[in-house]
Amino acid sequence: MARKKKIVEFEITDTIFPNKSIGRYEDKTIICKGGIKGQKVRVVLGRKKNDYIEGKILEVLEKSPTETEIGCPHHLACGGCTYQSLTYDRELKLKESQILSLFEREGIEKFNYLGIEKSPNIEGYRNKMEYTFGDEEKDGPLSLGLHRKGRFYEVVEVTQCNIVDRDFTIILKEVLNYFKEKKIPHYNKRNHIGVLRHLVVRKALTTGEIIINLVTSSQGEIDTDEFKNRLINCKEIKGNIVGIFYTKNDSLSDAIKVDELNLIYGRGYVIEEILGLKFKISPFSFFQTNTFGAETLYSIVRDFVGNEKNNIVYDLYSGTGTIAQILSPFCEKVIGIEIVEEAVENARENAKLNGLDNVEFIAGDVLKEVNNLKETPDLIIIDPPRDGIHPKAINKIIDFNPKNLVYVSCNPITLVRDLKVFIERGYKIEKVKCMDMFPRTVHVECVVLMSRVEN
Ligand SMILES: C[S@@+](CC[C@H](N)C(=O)[O-])C[C@H]1O[C@@H](n2cnc3c(N)ncnc32)[C@H](O)[C@@H]1O
Repeated sequence: MARKKKIVEFEITDTIFPNKSIGRYEDKTIICKGGIKGQKVRVVLGRKKNDYIEGKILEVLEKSPTETEIGCPHHLACGGCTYQSLTYDRELKLKESQILSLFEREGIEKFNYLGIEKSPNIEGYRNKMEYTFGDEEKDGPLSLGLHRKGRFYEVVEVTQCNIVDRDFTIILKEVLNYFKEKKIPHYNKRNHIGVLRHLVVRKALTTGEIIINLVTSSQGEIDTDEFKNRLINCKEIKGNIVGIFYTKNDSLSDAIKVDELNLIYGRGYVIEEILGLKFKISPFSFFQTNTFGAETLYSIVRDFVGNEKNNIVYDLYSGTGTIAQILSPFCEKVIGIEIVEEAVENARENAKLNGLDNVEFIAGDVLKEVNNLKETPDLIIIDPPRDGIHPKAINKIIDFNPKNLVYVSCNPITLVRDLKVFIERGYKIEKVKCMDMFPRTVHVECVVLMSRVEN
């Protein structure tokens, strides 16, 4: 017979990155996912680790005294935001202290810490959302929104989400109503039967251009003409729908894989404008999700690079070529490497659009492509995905022996792991600045300037 799990109650005494809370019960340390310092919680105890016990928060019994805001009505059900109940100043302080203690824990010290920069907007800042079709409860009516916190199958209809522009909510409601009327079923992730899978919406916040991508299985037919007309005739949408895609995806995993991509209306990209430059963005190209925050982030990178002219700059993990193009006036030549071909095509077109002829983009994996780079860089910019730099790639990058490196990171855990390698191999951490690209969520961006220690 399975042993009954122990349920305990305690106050959260600390919150560490990323979104883990610590408390004590009797003489034991308990670490749980979620929670805010000062909350009294009911927790079910799980596995014993070396020096702590894993716990799962079942219920918040008492709010923390720091929770003074009402925030978004969905935030307890939806897994997207954690800090909706804090004032923005408290959220920034919390994030800052979490990042600094990560650096301290790894023994990374003696750098110039330049603080945390606010996001220009804390509401309506997101320019891209990936919604899932499903039901709010098993066999309930069709729903479209985000996964319920900690649940894989249930979907919360996030019609009052406050971190997206209002057009996202209008499009969500219009699409949901349309498919409810048509009685088209969602794709059931348990038995892999059904049709509707995802709805991806991207809105360039500086130009108001919108692209929409409907993702379904191939188990049913959609009247794409009718679907498209319903959206383009929706008067409530303030922005301008410039393109609609219809994607078929029969893969068993929940990620969006493309078996067939059809442009059913308009053109396949939006144009966003940042720091005076134009960027074409296609549905599968990476682009910072906080447009106005991206201006601040790239300005920090530009400040860290300084005004000294560099000859050769490498922009590794270059996406649609944003950083490469922003740095282009300060160097002879920039070479970007990016794995998503579509993003590289965007980057090349963007450079043309912006009249820049000293930027070059290579499509491929950084790990492999750095072997083919022949020029010696003065400066390397690294902006990897959440997993950080591949352990073999990091050594190849350091072998170029650049005078300076700027590391832009969306995951401080992998950032500090990678910084230790740079330090071991002769680099000094000069400056660190945090940028809150993701208000109300647990995530933070960090920018780090490193310089080679001369012997
Ligand atoms: C955090 S984004 C940065 C993009 C860009 N610097 C920007 O600010 O828009 C990371 C990028 O790395 C790309 N990427 C992921 N793994 C890669 C790899 N092994 N080699 C090259 N690029 C990769 C992703 O497609 C994504 O565009």
